[in-house]
Amino acid sequence: MYAAVVTAFDTPPAYREFPRPVPQSSDEILIDVVASGLHPRVRSQADGSHYTSSGELPLVPGVDGVGRASDGTLRSFVLPDTTAGAMAEQTVIDRRRSIALPEGADPVLVAAAVNPVMSSWVALRQRIQFEPGQSVLVLGATGSSGRMAIQVARHFGAGDVIGAGRDPKRLSELASLGADATVQLDNVSAVADLARDVDVVIDYLWGPVTAELMAGIAARRSEAGRPLAWIEIGSVAGPSAEIPSAALRAMRLQIVGSGQGSVPTRGFLSEMPDLIREISSGTFDIDARAVPLTEVETAWNDTSTDQRVVLTP
Ligand SMILES: NC(=O)c1ccc[n+]([C@@H]2O[C@H](COP(=O)([O-])OP(=O)(O)OC[C@H]3O[C@@H](n4cnc5c(N)ncnc54)[C@H](OP(=O)(O)O)[C@@H]3O)[C@@H](O)[C@H]2O)c1
Repeated sequence: MYAAVVTAFDTPPAYREFPRPVPQSSDEILIDVVASGLHPRVRSQADGSHYTSSGELPLVPGVDGVGRASDGTLRSFVLPDTTAGAMAEQTVIDRRRSIALPEGADPVLVAAAVNPVMSSWVALRQRIQFEPGQSVLVLGATGSSGRMAIQVARHFGAGDVIGAGRDPKRLSELASLGADATVQLDNVSAVADLARDVDVVIDYLWGPVTAELMAGIAARRSEAGRPLAWIEIGSVAGPSAEIPSAALRAMRLQIVGSGQGSVPTRGFLSEMPDLIREISSGTFDIDARAVPLTEVETAWNDTSTDQRVVLTP
């Protein structure tokens, strides 16, 4: 079969032949892949930088997608750590890690949305006790996952939702997705002013900006005893942050991470039915573009698009 194949971690995947994977248990089935999202998690799998990377090559990237089973049903699936991923004509899925799509669901939109929606959905549902009415700051709100986090927070009944990001044009679009206020990231003091009393931070950035903002919010908080849950989800601005000790002492700050590991597989899977239903029924706005798998190398190198690329075999 043909697949996107990584043979070196410093080179993008190439469209070439790869051995067809074989189911290893009665829970596993071979499916025809219909769509698979090209998102940062997949990029870090393909360049070996993700914390789950075993260093094994060659590998086919792709950790989730939509495929057609032999009975004709379309299934959304998430894969375990494997070198035979979703960016292929066929892949092996575990039935228990998949769910049939509702009639009429668009497989490209589902494949595009699952990863970015899941990031904040699982964080709010599984990592903290999120209550309707709580206010939320999304740090890195202009990326695919940040745009979704605004909508997911709204969906779960958030009070005020604030979006902070760099790109002014993308920032200006967030009001239509449910943001009450937006703020430019280059002025961290302005972010801290606006977000001084938020209940939850959904953080896709980390790095120096997170450390500076924590200190800024701690200095401005009007009620020190008011809990603040800071959920670390991504690290596009830096892999580490120098957390100011004073921020931890001066306010009731709880820092948690959300991702593969801190959320067990059963935690992700338990959210799948509701999440797929909401994505399929159009609850969330996702800007997606289908690209043939044959063009994987070009798509990989093109980081200029804001749209979430979905590879279609
Ligand atoms: N833990 C999980 O479950 C999980 C799930 C999904 C995603 N993630 C992680 O979350 C992060 C964001 O994912 P995504 O899907 O939103 O990716 P994305 O669509 O590629 O968006 C990333 C955005 O980050 C912004 N950005 C890049 N460098 C920046 C910097 N130095 N400072 C501030 N902003 C910066 C850019 O927005 P501007 O153009 O406005 O600068 C870009 O649009 C990634 O680290 C990803 O791995 C984690």
